Amino acid sequence: MTDFARLAEDIAREAGDMLLAKRPTMSVASADVLTKSSPTDVVTVLDKASEELIRQRILAVRPDDRVLGEEGGEAPGVSDVRWVVDPIDGTVNFLYGLPDWAVSIAVEVNGRVVAGAVNVAPRGEMFTAALGDGAWLGGERLRGNPAVPLAQALVATGFGYDAARRAVQAEVLTGVLPRVRDIRRGGSCAADLCSVAAGRVDAYYERGINYWDYAAAGLVASEAGARIGGLDGRPYNSELTLCAAPGLFEELHDLLASLDPERDA
Ligand code: IPD
Repeated sequence: MTDFARLAEDIAREAGDMLLAKRPTMSVASADVLTKSSPTDVVTVLDKASEELIRQRILAVRPDDRVLGEEGGEAPGVSDVRWVVDPIDGTVNFLYGLPDWAVSIAVEVNGRVVAGAVNVAPRGEMFTAALGDGAWLGGERLRGNPAVPLAQALVATGFGYDAARRAVQAEVLTGVLPRVRDIRRGGSCAADLCSVAAGRVDAYYERGINYWDYAAAGLVASEAGARIGGLDGRPYNSELTLCAAPGLFEELHDLLASLDPERDA
């Protein structure tokens, strides 16, 4: 494991332990739960506490680095290293006590992700990856599933928080569901991409995910052999992003391109 991957893992573990210890104090009706971009987009005081802990730990050992976090935005720094942090990916699952949420930490050098750690803390699973060095779940090297025909693919997806976007996502889903083995909606993009890496699902797609949702887990999936990218050959970004073994990726890409009403946006 590289030094960056090890540090990301150590910090993600500490944040996950803190969240597991404090989660029982949370309830759906708690005053500690606020909404962000829409009534469905929640943030808890523990998202903020987790991000604060992660920022402090990073800057304690690497004071010149930049840190981009979901809750606090970008903190400037002078080095060519940037950390990309989602303090809780799957906040709604976290709030309801469902086991698919994760602390996600990626490390970029000159804009390229070189290491990542995704701590799916309620499941006791730490996924790590380093560029060119593989993806790991604990001590197990991950290789994902070989490509299957689209009709045999178990496909995970997710939905954003904006009602208009959700309506489009529902429309696209009606075109996907009859053509695949089945659909899963786990509730954490980071955990879902790690599931592609671990072979628990064959593919993942979602339009409108944020960079911090997939920065670390995208490396885990690609180091496990999956292809990750955007629609119409664009690099993966906040546009429709999909991830699957090469071969299945192209089949799913072409289906989504034919269904997605926002494809020319
Ligand atoms: C969300 C989760 C969800 C995905 C949403 C994300 P958050 O992240 O990753 O699975 O479908 O698009 O916003 O808000 O829980 O950090």
